[in-house]
Amino acid sequence: MPTVDLYDRSRRDFGVRPVMSTHNLHRHPLFSDEALVELLDHYPREHLYALTMGTDDTRTDDNRLAVHDGVSGASLLRAVKSGRLWLNVTQVHTADRRYRALIEQLFAQLVVLVPGLRPESTQGTLLISSPHALVYYHADASPSVLWHIRGRKRLWVYPAADDRYVNREHLEDIYAGVRHEYLPYDPSYDQAAVVYDLQPGQWVSWPCNSPHRLVNLDCVNVSLSTEYCTRDSRARARVYVANRFLRTRLGLRNLSTRGNGVAALVKTSAHRIARRCGWDPLQLKRHIPLLRVDPEAPGGTVAIDAKPTGSRS
Ligand SMILES: [Fe+2]
Repeated sequence: MPTVDLYDRSRRDFGVRPVMSTHNLHRHPLFSDEALVELLDHYPREHLYALTMGTDDTRTDDNRLAVHDGVSGASLLRAVKSGRLWLNVTQVHTADRRYRALIEQLFAQLVVLVPGLRPESTQGTLLISSPHALVYYHADASPSVLWHIRGRKRLWVYPAADDRYVNREHLEDIYAGVRHEYLPYDPSYDQAAVVYDLQPGQWVSWPCNSPHRLVNLDCVNVSLSTEYCTRDSRARARVYVANRFLRTRLGLRNLSTRGNGVAALVKTSAHRIARRCGWDPLQLKRHIPLLRVDPEAPGGTVAIDAKPTGSRS
């Protein structure tokens, strides 16, 4: 049974300020190498993404997607250990009921610990990543909690709802799905960051849309990223997408981001009608695969049209 701790003094900070506390998932058998290999072997591969990255923190678009069809779970894990990539095991809450149950148990405890927390739905992505891998500066649309399980990593969390760190129009595009979560980054932003050196058995949350970035230390890392929706977060998402529509179609800028009230109701209702009429077609942003996972290759990947490493033909 997973356990979640949260200091009394941090309970009112949850969702308002960055918060770190402890859990015991690092002792759970679902996150051993054997369990991960078994999970990957049976995983619906359309929900599994392998991504490589560069080394320059400021080149936040430098992610490349690698295909992995025909690559076994053991080989995927070997590529992570010897290479430099991330496995994003998305939709783990729908793909495997053991992880679904675990996420439900975690949030059942969080709801008791955090005053007013009322998640309407939760979802999870298991993150398995290489030594020295990094996740570029980005902001997620949904509120989230990161449960760190294996390895060590450094996390920077930046102020939310501050135009100096996240441009409102970028956030509108992220909510609409027409832009990846990655944002322009300047190292000077770090002066405003809260920094955590995460160890197995620690969890962190931050305010919705707070930009953040991560760097693994010299070891394989396993974390469970959970996102949750509340009535407020759904209302917020609807307003951001409606604001984007009004900006791109009518040139209206700097509209209020308040998720409730008359203005929000008018904007979101207008947008709902516009969508039904096909007036807001969205070109969803997707990575194009350029690489293939190959545990024998330096870095753990090769160009998608290259022959597999060790091929004799
Ligand atoms: Fe994130």
